[in-house]
Amino acid sequence: MGAGDDTLAGLFAASPLHFAGSPLYSRVGQVVAGDERLLAVAAQARAGQIPSNLLFASVHYLLLRDPAHELAAWYPSLGGTAEGDPGPAFTAFCLDRRAEIVALMRRRLVQTNVVKRSLVLRAGLAVVASMTREPVTLVEVGCSAGVHLRFDDYRYDFAGRTWGRASSPVVVSAAWRGETAAPDLDPVPDLADRVGIDLNPIDATDPDERRWLRALVWPENGAHAVLQDAALEAVARNPPRTVAGDAVEVLPQVVAEVPRGAPVVVFHSATRIHVPAGRREAFDAAIADVGRDHALFHLSYEAYEGLDETSFGLTLSRDAGPGRLLAVGHGHGEWLAGPV
Ligand SMILES: C[S@@+](CC[C@H](N)C(=O)[O-])C[C@H]1O[C@@H](n2cnc3c(N)ncnc32)[C@H](O)[C@@H]1O
Repeated sequence: MGAGDDTLAGLFAASPLHFAGSPLYSRVGQVVAGDERLLAVAAQARAGQIPSNLLFASVHYLLLRDPAHELAAWYPSLGGTAEGDPGPAFTAFCLDRRAEIVALMRRRLVQTNVVKRSLVLRAGLAVVASMTREPVTLVEVGCSAGVHLRFDDYRYDFAGRTWGRASSPVVVSAAWRGETAAPDLDPVPDLADRVGIDLNPIDATDPDERRWLRALVWPENGAHAVLQDAALEAVARNPPRTVAGDAVEVLPQVVAEVPRGAPVVVFHSATRIHVPAGRREAFDAAIADVGRDHALFHLSYEAYEGLDETSFGLTLSRDAGPGRLLAVGHGHGEWLAGPV
């Protein structure tokens, strides 16, 4: 079993690749891969969702709600410092709480909203600003709670400089690993409007929705949890407009409200990978169609051919033309490099 094995057991066995940076998920992924009872639980994931992300988040969510179970001792997010094998406690928890886990896996989606990707959006918007002086409408496809739609509320510490709102409590920091000068994060275009589209927009004012977002953050990644909370506060204070639905159906309706010929930036990050393979052509076509009646700038931060599992490519295409690789970066926005 391994990364090339597309069975459910193969997916879990490849956890050290998919969850690099989470020793706990790397380890329990192997446990699930070797246990038919746990695989049977994981097989209940909602169609089109990645079962390992959903199973781990469902367990984490239940522990966050009620941390009394001994399994919590392995979760740094709950103050756990246990060493040794988490397998027996993880297995016991999944079997005891099977019904609740399955209910969550059937209802919930993988919606991790990674604040640091806002820096990538900002870098892409700075390139757009060099191509148009007009105010743009920003449409984020797969916006989750909408933290990127408030990108201009945050401060950015990047490549030895500070950008954005200096006094912001949301401080996004990332390293520049390129051999050339780091890209500017300014200026960015004025926004005529901003709107998010998601299968299930998350309400940042709802504590239970926020607990699910917290559960999606890997247990070792306390810094991300703190940053996410700060960004969700900013979103809750000033929620951006979001529209619920599949982008294939909703994007044309949203863009129809924008004056003909006006510039539209369609941005998505870590979203296309969650679109079932059979829907991806329609997903791409819906975005390309925006270019029929509008000046389209398509910014994508997604898995990219030739990069490893932990890295994404930032591409920009104009009016549905071929995508230009602007940069490569860490999937969770820890660093940016390029152009390559
Ligand atoms: C992993 S999250 C990433 C969220 C955000 N883009 C980020 O980078 O932080 C993927 C999001 O895409 C949404 N999504 C997946 N397929 C979609 C579709 N066809 N139309 C609209 N939203 C979709 C999911 O509901 C989820 O909120």
